[in-house]
Amino acid sequence: MSAPRRSAKARATSNVLARADARDLGTFVAAGSADLAYLDPPFKVEKAFKARLTRGATRARGPVAYDDTWPSLDAYLAWLEERVAVVRDALSPRGTMWLHLDQRAVHEAKVVCDRVFGARHFRGEVVWVPGNGSKSRSGPGTSHQTILLYARGDEPIWNGKDPALRAPFAATSLEFHFKNVDADGRRYRDRVVGERTYRYYADEGRALGSVWTDCPSMAANTPLRAETTGYPTQKPLKLLDRIVRATSEVGSLVLDPFCGSGTTLVAAATTDRRFAGCDVGELAIRTTRARLDASGVSYRSL
Ligand SMILES: C[S@@+](CC[C@H](N)C(=O)[O-])C[C@H]1O[C@@H](n2cnc3c(N)ncnc32)[C@H](O)[C@@H]1O
Repeated sequence: MSAPRRSAKARATSNVLARADARDLGTFVAAGSADLAYLDPPFKVEKAFKARLTRGATRARGPVAYDDTWPSLDAYLAWLEERVAVVRDALSPRGTMWLHLDQRAVHEAKVVCDRVFGARHFRGEVVWVPGNGSKSRSGPGTSHQTILLYARGDEPIWNGKDPALRAPFAATSLEFHFKNVDADGRRYRDRVVGERTYRYYADEGRALGSVWTDCPSMAANTPLRAETTGYPTQKPLKLLDRIVRATSEVGSLVLDPFCGSGTTLVAAATTDRRFAGCDVGELAIRTTRARLDASGVSYRSL
């Protein structure tokens, strides 16, 4: 008989939150142990980000959460490369790294990641559309961010059938294509491509693909959400929930070396994964602690 599954709370001692530089991840995460790492580092925005400590307060008057100014692009890339290499070493043979950046440095950072992981381990990129519009007088304006996906080895975890990575088929597609019903009563269509036949089930929905528009940012034109902590650049839980479900399994160790307000750690705990997170900032750790404590998640503080 297989052992009963332990909940995230019962595995309390295996969750870790550290106030540390991402470079030192290897001091509290064993090499080759993590199935997923999500990195949301400073993007090289060239400004200091301030926090809103209470609802309704003005962010401009809040304390600096972290400084994102750099002497040069080369200095930024050297800083990033050192930390990406540390993350790679922490990944299991089936592990993946998601690196979240924007137009300011993503092209150069991809070259860095190709060097660290090997270009053949690049698995694609997600274009995340946070939905807060764009303003530019000199070009199209940027309304997306980019998340690069790299695998440690040749057979990474990919849960493409997870409902978090699916969307309903269009009504017209369902009406015109899904005319067959199998012995279990499931509607499907078969598509013949070359020598092969591919079967699609209506109830599984279509694969989401690489452009994600359905995870609005905290600042988007949506009502203020309960998950908002006031920490700048906090990512929405729905985005991290999808990433965690895509490339990890129940019981997997999930890393976030730039955890900020702790979004990834909450997503990991609520999907029954273990986590190890760190951040250099005092406010980040304080915010993450409050968030984990409010969710009843247990962890060790380092
Ligand atoms: C974009 S924010 C992360 C936001 C986070 N994903 C969230 O949802 O709240 C980047 C974070 O990187 C942290 N950081 C900057 N340099 C760091 C370093 N060397 N090691 C660890 N964290 C660092 C900052 O303090 C900041 O919290």
